Amino acid sequence: MYNQKVLQHFQKPHNFGKLKNPDSVGKVGNVVCGDLMWLYIKVGQNKQGQEIIQDIKFETFGCVAAIATSSIITDLAKGKILNEALNINKETIVKALGSLPPVKLHCSVLAADALAEAIYDYLKKNKRKIPADLEKRHQRIDNEEKMVREKYKGWIDNEEKLHQ
Ligand code: FES
Repeated sequence: MYNQKVLQHFQKPHNFGKLKNPDSVGKVGNVVCGDLMWLYIKVGQNKQGQEIIQDIKFETFGCVAAIATSSIITDLAKGKILNEALNINKETIVKALGSLPPVKLHCSVLAADALAEAIYDYLKKNKRKIPADLEKRHQRIDNEEKMVREKYKGWIDNEEKLHQ
């Protein structure tokens, strides 16, 4: 069973919806279950002039765990400098939620990947140097998203139009 915290994030997700004029978007899909996630970020600066995630929102088509992990990652990432945010991984997410059933651990990977993609998209748009491991990670995530997109082609395109 899902623990209380997971259920709370599912029933009342934090930062759910689309961000107006986001600086970048992370789009990911899970090839096995077909779940999809869009993560929008706005980048600002802290007092030291470091770039931070100033605002963040998500839209997810997915299971209870996909919604709960999307919700908690927005809490974890908000205010973090970009490099710190990139370190948020499956373990960080599961720890913050208390636990996840083993069959649902892949859902937390989806949320971490969405955040990494949003940061990748931001660095790319701003012509910044992309760290080699982030580039490699992007290639893997992008391929998976393309596979899901191919499978549910018309439907995803339609959803994206509706959400613009
Ligand atoms: Fe697909 Fe949860 S079952 S992400």
